[in-house]
Parts: sequence; structure tokens; C-alpha cells
Amino acid sequence: MNFEEIEYQDGIRFSWNVFPSTRQDANRSVVPVSCVYTPLKEREDLPPIFYEPVVCKPPCRAILNPFCQIDVVGKMWICPFCLQRNQFPPQYRDISPQNLPAELLPKHTTIEYTLSRPPSIPPIFLFVVDTCQDDEDLKALKDSLVVSLSLLPPNALVGLITFGTMTQVFELGYAECAKSFVFRGTKDYNAKQIQEMLGLSGSGGGKPMPQQPGRPQVNIGASRFLLPISECEFTLTSILEQLQKDPWPVANDKRPKRCTGVAISVAVGLLESAFTNTGARIMLFCGGAATEGPGMVVNTELKDPIRSHHDIERDSAKYFKKASKYYEGIAKRAAVNSHIIDIFAGCLDQVGLQEMRYMVNSTGGLMVLADSFNTAIFKQSFQRIFNKDANGQLMMGFNATLDIQTTKELKICGLIGPAISANKKGPCVGETEIGIGSTSAWKFCGITPRTAAAVYFEVSNQQGQALPPGSRGLIQFATHYQHASGQFRLRVTTVARNFGDINGPEIPMSFDQEASAVLMARIAAFKAEIDDGPDVLRWLDRMLIRLCQKFAEYRKDDISSFRLSPNFSIYPQFMFHLRRSQFLQVFNNSPDETAFYRYALNQEDVNNSLTMIQPTLTSYGFDQPPSPVLLDSVSIKPDAILLLDTFFHILIFHGENIAQWRKANYQDQEGYESFKELLEAPKRDAQEILSERFPIPRYIDCDQHGSQARFLLSKLNPSTTHTSSNQYGKPAGQEVIFTDDVSLQVFMDHLKKLAVSGSS
Ligand SMILES: *[C@@H]1O[C@H](CO)[C@@H](O)[C@H](O)[C@H]1NC(C)=O
Ligand SMILES: *[C@@H]1O[C@H](CO)[C@@H](O)[C@H](O)[C@H]1NC(C)=O
Ligand SMILES: *[C@@H]1O[C@H](CO)[C@@H](O)[C@H](O)[C@H]1NC(C)=O
Ligand SMILES: *[C@@H]1O[C@H](CO)[C@@H](O)[C@H](O)[C@H]1NC(C)=O
Ligand SMILES: [Zn+2]
Repeated sequence: MNFEEIEYQDGIRFSWNVFPSTRQDANRSVVPVSCVYTPLKEREDLPPIFYEPVVCKPPCRAILNPFCQIDVVGKMWICPFCLQRNQFPPQYRDISPQNLPAELLPKHTTIEYTLSRPPSIPPIFLFVVDTCQDDEDLKALKDSLVVSLSLLPPNALVGLITFGTMTQVFELGYAECAKSFVFRGTKDYNAKQIQEMLGLSGSGGGKPMPQQPGRPQVNIGASRFLLPISECEFTLTSILEQLQKDPWPVANDKRPKRCTGVAISVAVGLLESAFTNTGARIMLFCGGAATEGPGMVVNTELKDPIRSHHDIERDSAKYFKKASKYYEGIAKRAAVNSHIIDIFAGCLDQVGLQEMRYMVNSTGGLMVLADSFNTAIFKQSFQRIFNKDANGQLMMGFNATLDIQTTKELKICGLIGPAISANKKGPCVGETEIGIGSTSAWKFCGITPRTAAAVYFEVSNQQGQALPPGSRGLIQFATHYQHASGQFRLRVTTVARNFGDINGPEIPMSFDQEASAVLMARIAAFKAEIDDGPDVLRWLDRMLIRLCQKFAEYRKDDISSFRLSPNFSIYPQFMFHLRRSQFLQVFNNSPDETAFYRYALNQEDVNNSLTMIQPTLTSYGFDQPPSPVLLDSVSIKPDAILLLDTFFHILIFHGENIAQWRKANYQDQEGYESFKELLEAPKRDAQEILSERFPIPRYIDCDQHGSQARFLLSKLNPSTTHTSSNQYGKPAGQEVIFTDDVSLQVFMDHLKKLAVSGSS
């Protein structure tokens, strides 16, 4: 099977598909043994399993899988993780090699159990809406929210909080007129105060409702604010329709008073009082930055701009640390209770995503960045969240826990993804920590079929402890989660990989350079959150040089002898683009953009992450079918159209001749059908990309020499820069890129030189 077939079957891609057999050899192979794993990857052919899994004795609890040895006579199975023998349960008494249950068949290394625990409370959606917006933008947001009500399952519980100068919680159970509870925007309410004010604790109504059949048991106080949509759709719709812009006057030179911090704290306080460990989404819609109360990121004076990367770096961003700490505290509370926080920004300026990012990244939430709520990026992205699968269920899971087990030669270093540690210690936990470590289990409050985690391992076997030939390491991933239908499910993936000799051919031949680039990019972005930018770049460079020293062919100090085998040949290029990418070079972006880009890299699969690291460029011409071309300035041709996909942006670029003909409207004249078709083809392909992606990328249509074209030029390898062009100006027909960056060629020459000289 090739990498893509394995990815389809198990949702997994490893850096190495043959593992180094000792700790020392693993260090020498530079890129750690690691994988990108998509726990809930969509599969059409997963067999439906409606019984409980067979589990090894505690404390192991590994789940029966195709790699277990079975004894059909003794009705026993041997657990490959702890080597204990287990008796099969009575219902497996007829087991034989011809009659194996699904979970033992070799093709079912990934399987999903639907557990018999009755569904608990249906999913909860709590909207937290900013009312400091233009009427038009607010109306667009209100319309989107009303539409979303019709897309939610009718039993879902919904609630509404609005904020501006104050925070308001609406009592949806009170249908006579809009009744709400008001919180001051300047006050830092603690959980207890919020619950008392809402009447959720003490004698006010903390008592659970008497259980009624078919109705979830809900804290009676909370049920005034969160109701099944089937019961409150009319009330909620009319409240939304009547929602007005925040009434407090705003002077011309001021920002509105906006208490985002209080609003989100009230939302978290409401849910944690009544719905601990229950799947819930808080959807926060920000039309601007918090300017008041706890969590404010900028003051109300328009003359004081919101902080930039430079301000943060120089430690002159006045509110940055305090606000970040505030939102981090909220993030922890939400994550512990399994509540997701999504942030939708609808604003031309920053809203403070950089301070608020913890709330999204620790809870598996979603982030959408749009110029206003009245844009296709927001409207379509928001609607896409409620897409249904073939069974009419939302494509989102709640309250997921991923548990990983390894055989004894392997240990877990950590995970990088939208999760928090579940603090599970045990023999599988390694010494080295990468990402969220010191645990063998993680919690994803929110998880979708696309969520991909990066998991890092170490080889614990010491030099001299030779492994018997044919030894392999096993890893089991078990994901418990609440499906959108309310059912509890367990997805299990068990994989085995051989151990090999670091000096033999099989380890280098098993190198997946695409997965490895993504796995290293996640570490780099994770480090960049903590360390200085230049330190991260130096670390990446050192790792790349060491990898080349180990796996390239060369004679010492002879640059011309340097060769990389095909399995490694494009890896340095990924590193080149990663170094220049928005993930590590932050100064061309706002802090909010950086937070958004890193959020996406933190959870996308290998294909999408690679597009982010090294955007794809496709050329459309008259003479040949559309074909991928180098991400290089030489790809710009006057007679060609280019389609650039950076994951976040889709750009169509018309070469200068094409642009002129288009301006002259040749496409509408008879006899120019093929030109018309040439203009249409990249648009069609762009539409196809747009239809699949989340969030919706920005779409740019531009011409060579137009102002928007700068965006493409910034992504291209500067092979034709002002330094390489001759004294008579630019080489004919080529676009010159003005940049101080080194080109790929210079980068590669430098890499070879350092690799063959033995320095790192
Ligand atoms: C949420 O997950 C935790 C940990 O797996 C579990 O203990 C809890 O019962 C789950 N909550 C619900 C409502 O199932
Ligand atoms: C690595 O290269 C070898 C020989 O060129 C090839 O047979 C093998 O399939 C490649 N492996 C991968 C993972 O691309
Ligand atoms: C996610 O948040 C944690 C803090 O909770 C932070 O340490 C980590 O670097 C963040 N990761 C990314 C990719 O933003
Ligand atoms: C990744 O991209 C390749 C090439 O474009 C495609 O063949 C493959 O199906 C994609 N894999 C996934 C998991 O999307
Ligand atoms: Zn076991």
C-alpha cells in the first residue's frame, strides 16, 4: 500500500514507516518517529459495530485488534501491548479462523463501535453576539443566525447572549416578552456571582427537574436560558430580529465600549454550572476588539492603534499580557468542562484573536476571520459548519478523548493539535516532551472528521538491546466521543511498523517527506509561540542540515558530489518555504492573522498543511492542459493564467497579454471561443477548491502589474530578483521580484556546503 492508501484506511501518515530500533538511531535519524492522525476520518466502508469492545485487563485496557494472537481452542487472546492472556467473553465461544469478529479481520485496523450507553443531553449551541456594529453588518449576522436555527437538529439546546457596553443573557423560556439579565461591562464577575445572578445556584433553582421520559435532565435554572430549539425557535427568532445596535452613544474619535471578556465569561459560567462534561459550543461573534472590562485588548481612543507584532515583541502592548492571561483562564475552564469556543471575527481591523486564541485552540473550536459579517467568507463558512453527513447528522463530535498505547520499545513524547492534556500517566509516556506531553491521553472538546493531530514518539530501546529480527512496534489510538446524533462512539486504530537497521536501506526508503515536513512544521509553529523567531529558524536549519548529513550521498568537502535520493529530494524545498511562510515570518501580518494561520496549521491533514507551507501554482495556457508549475517567478508568462492556492487565498493571475485581451473583451467576440474557455478554466477549478474548504479562502482575481498581483509575487521563489537581472533592466518577459530573501538556489547551495563540511 502507498501512503495515500494507508491514509485512507487508517487516517494516518508516519514520518518513518520503518522505525529505527534504538534510541541512539532514532536521534541520528533527526525527524522523530511521529505521525499525523485524523481520528474521525470519514470512511464509507467502516462496518457498523453495535456491541461493546473486548478490552484487556486493567491497567492495560488495550482493545482487541487484528494484531492480537488468538487461541481458538482455549478461547484466549494475547494482548500485544502488555502480553497478558485474556479469556474471550462468552459470546465469542464460536470463534474460529473462518469465523472471526470484524475487529480481528486484518482489513479492520480501524473500526468504530457504537456504544450502548444511552444518549445524554443533545448538543448545546450558545450564541454570543456583539451588537456594536453597523446596522447592515448586524443584520447580516442576525440573518445568518436565524438560518442556522433551521440547520440545527430540533432537539439541540440553544441560548443567546449579546454584548456591547453591557452583557445581556436572554431568558428564552419566558415567551411573553423579551426578558434578559444584564451584566456590567466593567466588572470581573467570578463563576459564583454569575450563577447567583442568573439564579442557577442556591435556593434559586439549582435543583434538577424531575426526569421526564424523552427529555434531558437539565438544571432547572439553566433551562430558562437554554431550550430545545423546537420549543423556542419562535421566541429566539423574534429576539434576533428585534436585536438593535448597542444604544450607547459613541463619539467620533472613540471606539465603542465592548465587553467581550465579560460576555464570554458569562457564557462559560452559564454552561459550567449545569452542563459539565457535556458537548456544547459557545459561538462568539466579534465585530471589533474588546475595549472594556476584563480581557480588553485596546482602549476606546481611536488615536491609539491596536497592538502590532512589534509592540508585543518590544513589550509595549499595554493590555496584551493581562488579556491573554484572562482568556487563557477562561479557556481552561471551558476545556475542563468539555465546552467548545468558536470565534468568528467580522471586522476590517483586529479583534484580539491573538489574545483570545487559547479559547479556540484548547477547546477544538473554529476560527473564521472576515472583514465583516456581511461577506461571503463569513456567511458561507458559517453555513458550512452545519453541513450534514449522509445520515443527516452534523459533522461534529463532542467531548472526545484520544488514548494512545504503545508496545514497550516506543514511548509517547506528546501531541500537537487542538487539544488539552488529559493527564494520564503510565508506562507509555516518554522522557522527551514534544508539544502537549507527559500524558498518554488528550481531550478534544470539539472534533470534526477533518481534525488531524500530530503525535510524536521516542524509541526507548537502548543500544546493545538488539531486537529480534522481524520485530515491530505497535500503536493503538482509541477515541471515545459523543457523536452529533448523541450516540457514544469509540474509534480504534491499531497500526504496526517494523523496526529496521539505521545503516540499511529500509529506513531511508520508508521516509514520507510530505508527512515529515508537516510534522516538523507543527513543532516549529508550536516553538514559535514560546521561543524567539530566529531561534526557531536556527533550529529548523540545524535539523535540515543534520538530516542531509545523515541521508544524502556525498564526499566530505565536495559540494558537487552531494545527492539526495528521490525519497528526500523535495524535503529541503518544503523547509525553504516553511522558513519564509507566515507561520514563522510574522512581521508582514497582524498578530490576529498569525493566530489564525497557526490555528489552521495546528489541525489540518498532510495535504492541506502542505498547501499552506508550499502553495500550489497551476498554469493555464493555449497549448497545453493545465499543469502544476514551479512556485517561482519564472512561471509568470504573458500568455498564461496562473492559479495560486495558499489554502487561505485562491488567486487567479492573468499574464499581461491575457489581461489586455480580457480588457478588450475578446472573450465576448465570435472566433475567440478558446480564449473564453481559457479564462473560464481556472475559475472552475477555483470554484471546486472553494466548495470544499473551511474556512472559505479569500478569492483574488488580478492581472500582471496590477496592485493585487503583489500577493502572488510575495509567495514566489525570487529566482529573478533585481540582483540577478542585468544592467538593462529585467530579463525579457519575466517578472522581477524585489526582495532581500535568498532564492531556493542559494538556499540549496548553502545547505549542501554545510552538509558536506560536517558542520551543523
Ligand atoms: C465526557 O468525557 C469524559 C472523559 O472521557 C467522560 O468521563 C464523561 O462521561 C463524558 N461526558 C459525557 C456526558 O458523556
Ligand atoms: C524511496 O525510493 C525508493 C527507490 O528510489 C523507492 O522504491 C521507494 O518507493 C521510495 N519510497 C518512498 C516512500 O517514496
Ligand atoms: C495552543 O495553546 C497553547 C496554550 O494553551 C499554546 O502553548 C500553544 O502553543 C498553542 N498552539 C498553537 C499552535 O497556537
Ligand atoms: C492528497 O492529495 C493527493 C494529490 O492531490 C490526492 O491524490 C489525495 O487523494 C489527497 N489525499 C487526501 C487524504 O485528501
Ligand atoms: Zn494488554
